[in-house]
Amino acid sequence: MESSERSRSVWKATAPLRQFAPLKGETTADVCVVGAGIAGMTTAYLLAKAGKRVLVLDGNAVGGGETGQTTAHLSSALDDRYDSIEQVFGQDGARLAYESHQAAIERIGAIAAEEGIDCGYERLDGYLFLAPGHSPDLLDDELTAARRAGFEGVERLPRAPVTTFDTGPCLRFPRQAQLHPLKYLNGLADAIVKLGGTIHTGSHVTELEGGTRARAGGAGFGVTAVAVVVATNSPISDLFSIHTKQEPYRSFVIAAKVAEQAVPRALYWDTGDPYHYVRLQETDGGTLLVVGGEDHKTGHEDDAEARWAALEAWTRERFPITSVEHRWSGQVMEPVDYMAFIGRDPNGQDNLYVATGDSGHGMTHGTIAGMLLGDLIQAVPNPWTELYDPARKSLSPAPVKEFVKANVDVALQYADVVLQKDAESEDAIAPGTGAVLRHGTHPVAAFRDEQGVVHRCSALCTHLKCVVQWNSAERSWDCPCHGSRFSPTGEVLNGPASAPLPPVEAPR
Ligand SMILES: Cc1cc2nc3c(=O)[nH]c(=O)nc-3n(C[C@H](O)[C@H](O)[C@H](O)COP(=O)(O)OP(=O)(O)OC[C@H]3O[C@@H](n4cnc5c(N)ncnc54)[C@H](O)[C@@H]3O)c2cc1C
Ligand code: FES
Repeated sequence: MESSERSRSVWKATAPLRQFAPLKGETTADVCVVGAGIAGMTTAYLLAKAGKRVLVLDGNAVGGGETGQTTAHLSSALDDRYDSIEQVFGQDGARLAYESHQAAIERIGAIAAEEGIDCGYERLDGYLFLAPGHSPDLLDDELTAARRAGFEGVERLPRAPVTTFDTGPCLRFPRQAQLHPLKYLNGLADAIVKLGGTIHTGSHVTELEGGTRARAGGAGFGVTAVAVVVATNSPISDLFSIHTKQEPYRSFVIAAKVAEQAVPRALYWDTGDPYHYVRLQETDGGTLLVVGGEDHKTGHEDDAEARWAALEAWTRERFPITSVEHRWSGQVMEPVDYMAFIGRDPNGQDNLYVATGDSGHGMTHGTIAGMLLGDLIQAVPNPWTELYDPARKSLSPAPVKEFVKANVDVALQYADVVLQKDAESEDAIAPGTGAVLRHGTHPVAAFRDEQGVVHRCSALCTHLKCVVQWNSAERSWDCPCHGSRFSPTGEVLNGPASAPLPPVEAPR
């Protein structure tokens, strides 16, 4: 693969990104869902199935956000580990976390079967093995904690079934799964429409209101609804409260050719930090080994080539891959206390609901969101409500430490408002790339397109004014504070910002 080739996930290369007509004018619905990723589409589907008149709005396309960038392991073997989760939420909390993720895996399978969605849903075992230098005690502690959480059938084995390298001792987690995420979302889209729901893409939402007549609106359109669900991955309805409790990370993925039987079909993870995650995917061009890892905090580095190279080197040492066919990256929101934020608006706005804090389990968290929000909106009691409550307070030491660390890092980013400069002048910016420059004291995000035209906008993120950073892998401006992302010319790709970066005049 040429190093200049653009990042593109194997999912986007093998399934269409579905578009629907943008919404024009004012309309009403029982439930308006903002965001057509796994969280929004599952919520819309389950409510449509329950007889609600649902309307989905997305600024981009169905699956055009992080669900198109995932690796779609469907796992209840949680990456923060039951041992840590138990310390924060107790044994009951760990048990509810296990039950909810396992229920999500089962529900996805049931929906795919009921709706006839051909998305390659496949049940598999998952194997957790040690990163170099890690002690086997770690596996023993996790085995005990997972069993206490109610995870039946977890066992310690001398090695995972891979023959090309010795993983050493590992844990086997039964009843995990995988699928093709875009094919699944496209199937949900068909089902929602069949059930009488409406989907509008290209409909960027900038206004949200709770209340007895909740509302979502944007340029030239608006929806009044009994309930509004904000499933924009990072909520655009909340200025502070959730964003101080989660941190954005960028994770990197390669998909490389491998002989059909060379790696036993399973999910694999190591205990590294960041950890590696591995699965297989069949395509028309043959079997691919999909390997992720090498995460960094959003906007803190711009070295995707080195991250992909490190992933490839790690993979070649262990698995018999040949050519790398796809590589991409995506953003993950990591909650400081490990659990997603799913439920009522934490600022007390009635009939406004959020789903965020996906971490490495956004596919199951997004499905849990659909199940839990569906119940909350229909006033059906749900045992997971408290665990995922966006207004919860985690007072045990580990999350408090993470909370302080995350917010000190945000505070440090504000120094860049005064200091940051990537290039002295626009002449130094190569076509297809961007850099932060200074116009006097103001930081400017300058992007030179392939034709050589320079596009300039303010480099101050429209959420809370941190300085955005150029992401050369995804060609976007990424905010290091809370993960807002903008296109090269300043349009919002990802919240919490909902307003674009304002254009700036050329320097005189
Ligand atoms: C590299 C990588 C690997 C991962 N691997 C796994 C894995 O193996 N297993 C797993 O469970 N999870 C994994 N995850 C996490 C998981 O994929 C994501 O958490 C999940 O897909 C997020 O779904 P979502 O619906 O919350 O958000 P998204 O899919 O991002 O959907 C949000 C939607 O909201 C829209 N939107 C945003 N702002 C607005 C606005 N203002 N107006 C209108 N629309 C808006 C966006 O266009 C987008 O379509 C991974 C993530 C990454 C990046
Ligand atoms: S995302 Fe909060 S300041 Fe940019």
